[in-house]
Amino acid sequence: MSVNLINLFDYEPLAQARLSPMAFDYYASGAWDEVTLKDNRAAFNRYKLRPRMLVDVSHRDLSTTILGQKLAMPILIAPMAFQCLAHPEGEVATACAARELGTIMVLSTLATKSLETVAAVDSLRWFQLYVHRDRFLTKSLVERAYKAGFQALCLTVDAPVLGRREKDRRNQFVLPPGMELANLASMTDLEIPYHQGESGLFSYFLEQLNPALTWKDLEWLQSISPLPLVIKGILRGDDALRAVECGAKAIIVSNHGGRQLDGAIASIDALSDVVAAVGDKAEILLDGGIRRGTDILKALALGAKAVLLGRPVLWGLAVDGQLGVQKVLELLTDELDLVMALSGCATLKDVDPSMVRSGELLI
Ligand code: FNR
Repeated sequence: MSVNLINLFDYEPLAQARLSPMAFDYYASGAWDEVTLKDNRAAFNRYKLRPRMLVDVSHRDLSTTILGQKLAMPILIAPMAFQCLAHPEGEVATACAARELGTIMVLSTLATKSLETVAAVDSLRWFQLYVHRDRFLTKSLVERAYKAGFQALCLTVDAPVLGRREKDRRNQFVLPPGMELANLASMTDLEIPYHQGESGLFSYFLEQLNPALTWKDLEWLQSISPLPLVIKGILRGDDALRAVECGAKAIIVSNHGGRQLDGAIASIDALSDVVAAVGDKAEILLDGGIRRGTDILKALALGAKAVLLGRPVLWGLAVDGQLGVQKVLELLTDELDLVMALSGCATLKDVDPSMVRSGELLI
């Protein structure tokens, strides 16, 4: 690669140059005024690190265990739809990168490679579920994910309808010819519809996804699948506790990368409330705006066990396929390693709540 890509931000403009405007806008944008999208980043700066000195950090270990699975670092790949828009190998390339790095890829229901094809890569893998109105279809997806060796079911709960991403509406977002909803193609003829003046994805959610989903349905989901349930898209302690009481083994504190309810709290700001409510009854993960090693240390210090990375994975994929995704994950892991050394943390167990302080408290 001729350009010197030294951090995650460097990937975005390069990816933009390679993507169609419709694909770039779909990947990059947030809902409405993108207040939450921007605040996901800005919020990290409101937390200050309190490094420890004179600790032997000559050997550092970033490995961790999530739902019993050993990971090389506390960074997972967030579920993201339509990855073939970035690269012909799409989700397969991302899974290969996850395998090489020793982490989990969460595969979206709305993937452009089928879950069986991605499973053949044999990376650590979770399946992200969107519950469709068609219960039979949903049940089949869940059963196929179990059969294909996915190790957890990650139910996204912040999208009963799709957030308003105005760029997608203006672009009348659809998938290009030849690209399909690969997980659904073998069972249905569902596709992202073209509606004039509308985002096809918005229409798809309206028509196909079940907006009546409630806590009761978690029981049903667990009755049809032995996989541990992860609930993604929680922003409140009471919801988190309820999820755990309904059987969730992990919670992902997330506002969907600022793509659903604009004005929602930044995920790092929501973390402490969730941690206080859940304690050690479940594992808590976080996504939204993670771009630097320092962001990860702050999230871990505030009580997350790991984080998930979203858009930068897509930028890496667009720039250089599997290798691009690997490079993005490596850059971030290297930053975390450096941050740990500079903070006096040799292992993730050394990262405790005293490592971070909310900026406001300092005034
Ligand atoms: C997403 N996200 C998402 N989440 C989910 O549960 N199912 C999905 O299919 C998708 N699809 C999707 C597509 C694209 C293009 C983006 C950018 C995001 C949300 C994703 O899992 C995650 O919550 C955020 O992307 C995390 O924020 P950052 O890291 O992108 O700031």
